[in-house]
Amino acid sequence: MSESKNFEHLMIEYNEEGNYAVVLLNRPNKLNALNNHTLEEIADALAALEVDPRARCVVLRGTRDFTKKPAFSAGADLSERGFPDLDRDNLRHQSHAMYRRHKCYNQIEKFPKPLIAAVDGYALGGGFELVLVCDIVIASKRSTFGFPEIRRGIFPANGGTQRLVHHLGKYRVKEMMFFGEQYSAEKMHEWGIVSYLIDDNKFEEFVDEKASWLGGAPTNSLFVIKKAIDYGSQVPLDIGLQFEQMGYAINSTSRDVAEGVSAFLEKRKPEFQGK
Ligand code: COA
Repeated sequence: MSESKNFEHLMIEYNEEGNYAVVLLNRPNKLNALNNHTLEEIADALAALEVDPRARCVVLRGTRDFTKKPAFSAGADLSERGFPDLDRDNLRHQSHAMYRRHKCYNQIEKFPKPLIAAVDGYALGGGFELVLVCDIVIASKRSTFGFPEIRRGIFPANGGTQRLVHHLGKYRVKEMMFFGEQYSAEKMHEWGIVSYLIDDNKFEEFVDEKASWLGGAPTNSLFVIKKAIDYGSQVPLDIGLQFEQMGYAINSTSRDVAEGVSAFLEKRKPEFQGK
């Protein structure tokens, strides 16, 4: 990793080749709990990386500082007292508080380049909900997932009740949210939430391998695939197919298309520039 830029609760790194970036949640004393400021910082960091040519893929992960325990994120910061400008006893203010948090998660979900959640340790509550707005989930075998909110008298309101049900169906999601138990990475892999389940000691190497691959891939094709899937899955097939047709037209102007086809015909490895 070459460069490093510090936010208050995050660190940003770039790989040597300068084609992917890593956003590290950096609150080891709180197992990377997400207070409002941390969430805003993630959204801001991604907004900057969206137009950064050194970031053709982004890895979102917890700090490598395991002073306490390995964690992606143990969820919403339970020590935070909410937004200082909002009245805790006002129902509309509290609804607005969730609107602000949803805005951050939505912004992260709309990041148009591949976003890998690299989970090594706890991914609980709001931390699990952060995983759900990423594209690919790589988890070490020691990781655990779940929604402990019910045990604190709250519930998974950062998109959890909405986003996960599309993947798992309502019975599995209710089981997870009603009982608040932790689930192994193996189980989440079996249920299709974890894309790659990796031995703890191979985790770093594997994340680098996948991020490097995406960082060297044709970025415009990935841009179109991501939008077509994410938006197409929300509309009827006829409209979704229009996204594909428009996306195909946009992608066909990309220099990487010419490179990919020429490289195949010339029997050489393509060198995609992400343009
Ligand atoms: N918010 C704020 N602080 C948190 C936190 C959270 N969500 N999760 C963990 N921490 C802090 C702990 O308070 C502790 O701080 P301390 O050492 O200063 O006391 C530190 O992180 C380590 O946590 P600890 O509980 O000692 O580790 P553990 O391995 O025994 O347990 C968890 C780990 C994740 C199971 C446990 O910390 C936990 O249940 N956290 C809350 C998870 C949660 O409810 N998330 C949803 C919130 S809506």
